[in-house]
Amino acid sequence: MSAVQLEANRSGGLGRSAVSHVVKPLLVVGVDWLTSDWKLYSIAMMLVNVFWVMTLASHAQDIADPALGKRLFESQCVLCHGQNGTGGRGPSLNRPNLEKAPDDKRLDRVIGEGIGPEMPGAWQLSPREVASVRAYVRTLGAMPQEPLPGDATRGAAVYRDKGCGGCHIVMGEGGGFGPELSAIGTRRNAKHLREAIVEPAAFVPEDYMMVEATTAVGTVRGVRANEDAFTVQVKTADGKFASYRKADLKALRRPAGQSLMPSYKGKVTEAELDDVVSYLANLRGRQ
Ligand code: HEC
Ligand code: HEC
Repeated sequence: MSAVQLEANRSGGLGRSAVSHVVKPLLVVGVDWLTSDWKLYSIAMMLVNVFWVMTLASHAQDIADPALGKRLFESQCVLCHGQNGTGGRGPSLNRPNLEKAPDDKRLDRVIGEGIGPEMPGAWQLSPREVASVRAYVRTLGAMPQEPLPGDATRGAAVYRDKGCGGCHIVMGEGGGFGPELSAIGTRRNAKHLREAIVEPAAFVPEDYMMVEATTAVGTVRGVRANEDAFTVQVKTADGKFASYRKADLKALRRPAGQSLMPSYKGKVTEAELDDVVSYLANLRGRQ
């Protein structure tokens, strides 16, 4: 028997009398009240009050607080979208028109559900917090944008001359070894694009993890296209797929911090880099 039950038993007499002392008068008052003329009026007033409280509560959820939104943005979004929304791994948000979030409803959805595979949804935010983050993101759109130093038309020529299209698709043209770049300007900011070209290993997207499979014949390097407990599929730079049973491999390595994209550091001039970054930043998909 627990201490609480013992205590309850010991005070059993008192407990019972307390119940009758409280319940009996309540019943009497209740019956009295029910028979009174004020019955209907009281019920109606009670309902009005409940309704009031509920309306107030639902409005409170919609009242966006940009200061709260700024704090939430700094703790949960800055990592990818940069201080003041200047962008980074994620696109800049200090633009008046966000392609994926043209209106408030869509922006709320982007914040809550994220955009697969890279942007996680902030499902832990309450509706009021989402509204606050949205309000803050909209204030970013009113800020002036950083101008790009390069020239997009010259950049298109650099892109062509350097053979970038051998591994990347833009508007249906090119090779599919690397990620498609048709709308890269909506996904990454200029700083990230510059880094992707001269220091590609600094950030390798999840879908482009490098693997090296060593068989009796030799080693094959490529993008890990698929993997389960027993097999691994590797996509090589010539666009072919190789499939291996893990048990047959001598070694399967995943060199961390390496990219399958060659670094163009020293292979493009500063001016060419500015131009090709401008070209990429302006690739915004079909419009
Ligand atoms: C782990 C990185 C990451 C985090 C954290 C993140 N995002 Fe994103 N976000 C991205 C990426 C990458 C994209 C581009 C996705 C795409 O278009 O495929 C994106 C896209 C967006 C877009 C659409 C932009 C457009 O041009 O239409 C908005 C708006 C946005 N994010 C807001 C937020 C907010 C607000 C938060 C914080 C609550 C947040 N993001 C957190 C990576 C992130
Ligand atoms: C041999 C193939 C190959 C060539 C040539 C190549 N790339 Fe890449 N690129 C890749 C691969 C693979 C990735 C993904 C891995 C990574 O980001 O490091 C990538 C990633 C990128 C990214 C980052 C995409 C993202 O989502 O963040 C950009 C931007 C890019 N390349 C631009 C270029 C440009 C510009 C050129 C030409 C100057 C070029 N690439 C030439 C294979 C290549």
